[in-house]
Amino acid sequence: MSDTAINPDPRDAQLGRSRVVDNPELEAFYGELGQHNAAAFWKRANAIEPWEPESRYSPTVWRYDEMRDLCLRAIDLVRPEDAGRRVVVLLNDSEAGRANSAVCGWLFSGLQAMKAGEITPAHNHTASAQRFIMEGAGAYTVVDGHEIELGGNDYVLTPNGCWHDHGVSVSGKTCIWQDGLDIPLMNSLETNFYAVYPEPTQTRAFPANDLPLSYGSVAMKPEGIPAWDKPYSPVMVYRWEATRDALWNLAKVSDGSPFDGHIMRYSNPLTGGWALQTMGAHMQMLKPGLHTKAHRHTGNVVYNVAEGEGYSVIGGKRIDWKQHDIFCVPAWMWHEHVNTGSGEAFLFSFNDFPVMEALGVKIEQALDTNSGHQPAAL
Ligand SMILES: [Fe+2]
Ligand SMILES: [Fe+2]
Repeated sequence: MSDTAINPDPRDAQLGRSRVVDNPELEAFYGELGQHNAAAFWKRANAIEPWEPESRYSPTVWRYDEMRDLCLRAIDLVRPEDAGRRVVVLLNDSEAGRANSAVCGWLFSGLQAMKAGEITPAHNHTASAQRFIMEGAGAYTVVDGHEIELGGNDYVLTPNGCWHDHGVSVSGKTCIWQDGLDIPLMNSLETNFYAVYPEPTQTRAFPANDLPLSYGSVAMKPEGIPAWDKPYSPVMVYRWEATRDALWNLAKVSDGSPFDGHIMRYSNPLTGGWALQTMGAHMQMLKPGLHTKAHRHTGNVVYNVAEGEGYSVIGGKRIDWKQHDIFCVPAWMWHEHVNTGSGEAFLFSFNDFPVMEALGVKIEQALDTNSGHQPAAL
């Protein structure tokens, strides 16, 4: 919220905004209201009803070469059996980020590191989770008895309430992946439950990879098996190779979005909607030399550079990035992306757009270069 006492907004002088001039009689009245757990609305109206969203979060970047070292140190310092989950939490560089354990807005994120032969004990929570695999080999997760193998740049779901445990096979290599959850949202809604499974790991109840193999084709819907009746995507894992091919194919026939280059959502193939109910995710491809137009929208976005190098300008701040750097775009901040590399750049991202859409408050605006809004000094 802007401090109207320090920076009065000239728009607040107009009819329709709070513009009461205080006097001793009013001050006494405010004191009296305070003794009754009450307050004068006009004293706070302009602050709690800003002209437009004012994010409490900052554009923040986490460099993978720094974060990777910290994740590897955590492996030596704590066992996953004791930590529950050995995760380095990404905290937004803001008071709100540190207070809410938020990477940005309603979103939580962390880097989870596991070495060969380790497991994360089975549990579930109301918060939905998703994972983006950054490095390693032999990682797997088990979601409600379905085992799913995980490879680099794969996008994986753990829908809310599902039992899940993770591990890296004995013959695998140390794995690091990014977790994305809606923990700040669940805590704000006061709906966050957590439970521990009676055994360290779940019994596999289905053939390995049965869900992605059954539902992983957008064009072919399986028949002759029990109908999927859950409110989230049955695919569970979206493979990197298929994701990249889908973007390459799209680029053969489309110029893509002026704001995002070629961009595709990880969707529930049965509905075309988001894969999870509270969080969405995209992969986008920026062709060499592409400099997107600036836009802004409600909702928060956390990016992970799947491949390539470039920079983004977010709320006037330039953030240079390369593979597996992570950065965020807070709500209603102007942003644009630039690919400075010689090949395509791929940006994975996850967001809280499904919440914004469900509440009817997903609002987007393109930069009007004639309006006086300028995204940044480059
Ligand atoms: Fe979990
Ligand atoms: Fe955007």
